[in-house]
Amino acid sequence: MVQRRFPPVSSVATMAALLLLAFLMSAIHVQAASPEAGTVKILGFKYEGDACPPGSAEGAVSDDGQAITMMFSKYTASTDAGVDRLRKSCTVTVNLSYPPGFRFHLGTVTMRGYAKLDAGVIATAQTSYYISGIPGTARAKRVITGAFDDDFEFTDKFNVLLYSECNVIRDLNLISEVRLVAGLITGRDDDLKLTQELAIVWESC
Ligand SMILES: *[C@@H]1O[C@H](CO)[C@@H](O)[C@H](O)[C@H]1NC(C)=O
Repeated sequence: MVQRRFPPVSSVATMAALLLLAFLMSAIHVQAASPEAGTVKILGFKYEGDACPPGSAEGAVSDDGQAITMMFSKYTASTDAGVDRLRKSCTVTVNLSYPPGFRFHLGTVTMRGYAKLDAGVIATAQTSYYISGIPGTARAKRVITGAFDDDFEFTDKFNVLLYSECNVIRDLNLISEVRLVAGLITGRDDDLKLTQELAIVWESC
């Protein structure tokens, strides 16, 4: 019977290799604080509310997975027809898929639209979100004070860090609401759309 001989393994070399591996893994861990490009996807996008009739809303996630953009083509709150104290809202439910090992919260919301308000008149635009099965709601609120007659772009921070669960994907529910005493909030002049961009902040878990 032939005894196979293995070359002797240097324990120093083994130690060095293990240390290098540990170092590389910790470097990867730090770099992987965000999912890889193209791995964050919207699998489902539903919406409901008087600010977003059927066929009037779309959603997309950026390739780098850092932002969700929602576009509304009929998001108009106007007291022109003689109504006063108007509230319009839209609830969007997003099925956001992302790789295991990550969780997220929303950092900011940037709203772009057009507003026309007389001097001294106040309008509020509020966006809130919650994640199905997780207690709590995060809110971001903007007050627009007249006189105002222009396109606008406002970025507001959510008031609490409301995280998704690690490795469990649940619906992300986004509620936007505009309140007016008098005046108009609607899409911008150029594309007639009101848009909201939500910054996604990732963490590895
Ligand atoms: C998200 O979509 C996937 C694929 O359609 C489905 O399997 C999953 O149950 C959905 N998740 C939620 C929370 O609706």
